[in-house]
Amino acid sequence: MLTAVFLDLFGGFGLSVLFTIACLALMYFAGQHRSKQSISQGETSKSHASIEKNTKTGLAEKIVSPICYKIRSPRPYPQWSIHQTKPLPYRAFRYGPKYNITMGLRTIEPDEWIELDNHFPKYHADKAARIQERGEKCIKTDPAAFPAAIELLEELVSYLPARYPTLFKRTSVGIDNPWSGESFNILERPLRENPMAICARLIQDDLALMLEQPVGSGTYRLLAGCILLPGFWRLSDKFGMSLSDIHTSGNVPSFKEKLEKGMIKFFQRLKPDVLYSRNNYFIQVDDSLAWSHSIGAEDNPTVSWSTAEKDTIIENHWFRSERQTLRRLPKTGAICFTIRTYFHPVTEIVQEEYVPGRLASAVRSWDDNVSIYKGREKYGDILLEYLDKKHQEQIENGLDIDCEDEVRQYPW
Ligand code: HEM
Repeated sequence: MLTAVFLDLFGGFGLSVLFTIACLALMYFAGQHRSKQSISQGETSKSHASIEKNTKTGLAEKIVSPICYKIRSPRPYPQWSIHQTKPLPYRAFRYGPKYNITMGLRTIEPDEWIELDNHFPKYHADKAARIQERGEKCIKTDPAAFPAAIELLEELVSYLPARYPTLFKRTSVGIDNPWSGESFNILERPLRENPMAICARLIQDDLALMLEQPVGSGTYRLLAGCILLPGFWRLSDKFGMSLSDIHTSGNVPSFKEKLEKGMIKFFQRLKPDVLYSRNNYFIQVDDSLAWSHSIGAEDNPTVSWSTAEKDTIIENHWFRSERQTLRRLPKTGAICFTIRTYFHPVTEIVQEEYVPGRLASAVRSWDDNVSIYKGREKYGDILLEYLDKKHQEQIENGLDIDCEDEVRQYPW
């Protein structure tokens, strides 16, 4: 009827007016639907909303990020094998003369979220022993973080069988690991153990969840974690702390001046569809992956480099490097922080071309604060003498220093 009136009155022009009205109405209802979705899911995490400048109008607008984002199923890791796939050779140190402190974040493909390799059996066994021996000291989930811990578990249960199909099988209730004989039911309630512990048994990484608390404050706190192989820090010391307190309590060098502001902003703006990673490195003077006992027993009230033996033999020097990832979980808005430690004797990594020369240069570039933080006083002399000798041997064997960039590029 309305169409006939329009056609009578305006002919062909009426048809295009009608069409425009219909389009506008459709856009309006679609918009309503979208904002309803955002509001109902955004209830748990208002941090998805950020104030940003609209480039067209120049006005500040409240932007709601795509919280219904679903990560796509990853491609299988090429030829992955629990026997053959070696740990990736992260050698994340740079030549001096200056050691620049930066956040060092790089984007990664969602497929690359979790890295597993033929060290899985050792990590799996060490983690199981730690869960049994230390329980709550290493694993904790604040009730407010329980939904986020479940979301993380669900993400792993869908990611791992797709990425590592020879290690994991998806089941109707969860996930099986036929290699270890473990079967996890993630639907039953109560769960058999803390969801963070289940997550940790599935992978080589330690895991932490940061939640914005209070909601809307922009402050992220460590409210769930399974920190089993940390080397130098303890979950019980940091649990519940804000991002800033975690780092200032550990005297992270230049945190206030160079890192704090950028990190806070990064956490507030992180979107679920972009994943980040960063790498670091340390030297340790014992071979213990889980806890570096050189800095004191794990249950001592305080631990510090001051207790470590000075100038121990080079065979006791271990290279410890973390690959950390950060991503926002789409449903709860919690930020998942993964920490995968790569751990090798220094005597092993110096066999690689360029490594002794570059590591020596990096260690020499640490300023006093970085040196204190990394405990250089206890091992610097022995380590540098050894690295210099190995570097010299490589040069004598024909190493072409000018070709390094073609062979290895950060973080390799
Ligand atoms: C943008 C993200 C982050 C950046 C840029 C960052 C940066 C750093 C840096 C530079 C250090 C010194 C050691 C190193 O070189 O890595 C450090 C230490 C540390 N970070 Fe972070 N961090 C981030 C996120 C987190 C999160 C989410 C946690 C939550 C568990 C965390 C926990 C720690 C701990 C426990 C230490 C050791 C502190 C100590 O020695 O007591 N970091 N971080």
